[in-house]
Amino acid sequence: MTASHPCVLVTHSSRFGQSTKIAQAVSDGLRAHGIATDVVPLTKATAPDPARHDAIVMVMSVRYGHFAKQAEKFVTRYRSWLDAVPTLLMTVSLTARTPEKRDPAKHVYTRKFLEKMAWVPSHVEVVAGALEYPRYNFLDRSAIRLIMTMTHGPTDPRTWVEYTDWERVAQVADEFAGAVESRTH
Ligand SMILES: Cc1cc2nc3c(=O)[nH]c(=O)nc-3n(C[C@H](O)[C@H](O)[C@H](O)COP(=O)(O)O)c2cc1C
Repeated sequence: MTASHPCVLVTHSSRFGQSTKIAQAVSDGLRAHGIATDVVPLTKATAPDPARHDAIVMVMSVRYGHFAKQAEKFVTRYRSWLDAVPTLLMTVSLTARTPEKRDPAKHVYTRKFLEKMAWVPSHVEVVAGALEYPRYNFLDRSAIRLIMTMTHGPTDPRTWVEYTDWERVAQVADEFAGAVESRTH
């Protein structure tokens, strides 16, 4: 990482791999602009030190209304660094499968998280995740089916569907690459 060779930390907090896939797609998009990336899972054991990076992408999924505790800890710990660099927060959830919920101000989990952290990332994107009933255990499958019943989504336990808009993910990566380039050149 130098002024002319920026390096972006791409962290992901994922349970079933969708956020990891999204993080990888954003990393690919940044690399297409000649921007180096480090793709690192955000777990207790792997909490990355962002100091040698020029910007950050945080991709994190919702589980029962909450993001991983590690995400809160990370934002609290590195808050002053986060406020000094381009930041892209991407939240991944099933409520985001309807376009009107993808407005960060209307997406309850994203809004509450940012309010709680009193954090304003430079870029926020609400992304639709995947619904993969066959991968869930009985309790999780039952709970998600109940949520889907209430929100008029698929309840067939064989449903395995990816709602992620990959074109939009690529576009967000392009936009963020522009923000990183304008800060580091
Ligand atoms: C156990 C479980 C709980 C979930 N809870 C929520 C929820 O409260 N709200 C929501 O919008 N999506 C919820 N989802 C959907 C996930 O956010 C979605 O499947 C996402 O793609 C998961 O991303 P990941 O594989 O990176 O963890 C839940 C999924 C599972 C399996």
